[in-house]
Amino acid sequence: MREMRSDRLAAPFPPRRLRIERVRRSRVRQTSSVAVTVLLVVVATGPSDAAPPVNYDESKVPHYTLPDPLVCRDGTRITTPQQWRTKRRPEILELFRSEMYGRAPGRPPEMSFEVTGVGEAFGGRATRKLVTIHLASKHARVAIDVLLYVPRKRQGRVPAFVGLNFRGNHSISTDPEVPLCRSWMRPGPGVVDNRATEATRGVAASRWPVSTILDHGFALVTAYYGDIDPDYDDGFRNGVHALFPPPGGRRSPHDWGSIAAWAWGLSRIMDYLETDPDIDRRHVAVMGHSRLGKTALWAGANDERFALVISNDSGCGGAALSRREYGETVRRINTSFPHWFCDAFKRYNDRVQDLPFDQHMLIALIAPRPVYVASAVEDRWADPRGEFLAALHAEPVYRLFGKPGLGIDRWPPVDQPADSGFIGYHVRHGKHDVTAFDWRQYLKFAARHFAR
Ligand code: GCU
Repeated sequence: MREMRSDRLAAPFPPRRLRIERVRRSRVRQTSSVAVTVLLVVVATGPSDAAPPVNYDESKVPHYTLPDPLVCRDGTRITTPQQWRTKRRPEILELFRSEMYGRAPGRPPEMSFEVTGVGEAFGGRATRKLVTIHLASKHARVAIDVLLYVPRKRQGRVPAFVGLNFRGNHSISTDPEVPLCRSWMRPGPGVVDNRATEATRGVAASRWPVSTILDHGFALVTAYYGDIDPDYDDGFRNGVHALFPPPGGRRSPHDWGSIAAWAWGLSRIMDYLETDPDIDRRHVAVMGHSRLGKTALWAGANDERFALVISNDSGCGGAALSRREYGETVRRINTSFPHWFCDAFKRYNDRVQDLPFDQHMLIALIAPRPVYVASAVEDRWADPRGEFLAALHAEPVYRLFGKPGLGIDRWPPVDQPADSGFIGYHVRHGKHDVTAFDWRQYLKFAARHFAR
């Protein structure tokens, strides 16, 4: 039995439940003076578009109908991989580009790679490489510092994990030879005047088990996401956006936001990896957590050079279905992070049911390449169940290619990965984070797929 809830592909969208909700709310307003006071305070203090309370109640998830990944806008049903590749996949990609993440440019006019340092690390188990990607146009110059750890015990080229980090390359381990990141950084412990200090060296080490990754024969490649685009709303004037100012300075509602910029940066890192003699370019997995998990999925959807894609707790705008409106919603994400998506996405703030896609189709764009979606049971903001359902509903596209998907059709128990097919999934115990448990599954999944 497939999991049959309000996530049916073909069920009509019944507006009745929503009407009942509205009636209930207006009754509360009439009868409760507390509610009236709260309402007045909200009005008096400002936000005209106060979002409804966050929903964590499964019974309040609205009924919805998911668009069928295998039915084109003109009604054509896709029945062959060839049709998917030439017709439906480009159509879906273009819809995500124009309505959600925004359209990114191609390679920049000028790009060069500078190896600034090579040394030994991790007690001689790794070669550390420091590489700067220089990007330039006639409008701006941008430098992205890439850190690579390559296992020294190897025969020939090695497969790699590539992922952006939140706090600078120096934060992923205590390796003293990694230069302190000098780029703008969000406020946080050890960050002074938006710059990292030595106090932040190694602070993200628990999320990057470099030794274990090396022991499994993989290289680890990372860069600070703020080198690509600083994570604040500056009207898209800094970071890689500055390389490509829109004509006349006027952005279109479909121009790229920051997630698209970070994903574009991952592709530039892939450009470099294709030139690195130590890396097996056919076996590069892209991985990311949270907003960078959204980024990993979008990078993998756009750039088929990524042979495997991993989304760790990516939530709304990543692996979670938007139509469920559980935890973070489209309205909330567009309000808190107006620079992450293109402006056209804001049109769906209050009508997610009109989106011409949902996030199962983002996962489907990765087919037939292996993809792994991971959730954490306490990470309700990211809607763990909605992440599972998106993975489940991507399956028809994998089946079209003759590839097994999840191998299960119900949300699995906590800490029991479903990893036998081309779509991997787990919901682990604990909070929003990247843990040793998560990495154990990714290493196993990638080793199995890359061994083929
Ligand atoms: C916020 C945001 C999420 C995002 C997360 C993160 O919680 O609402 O969408 O995934 O930050 O990137 O850490």
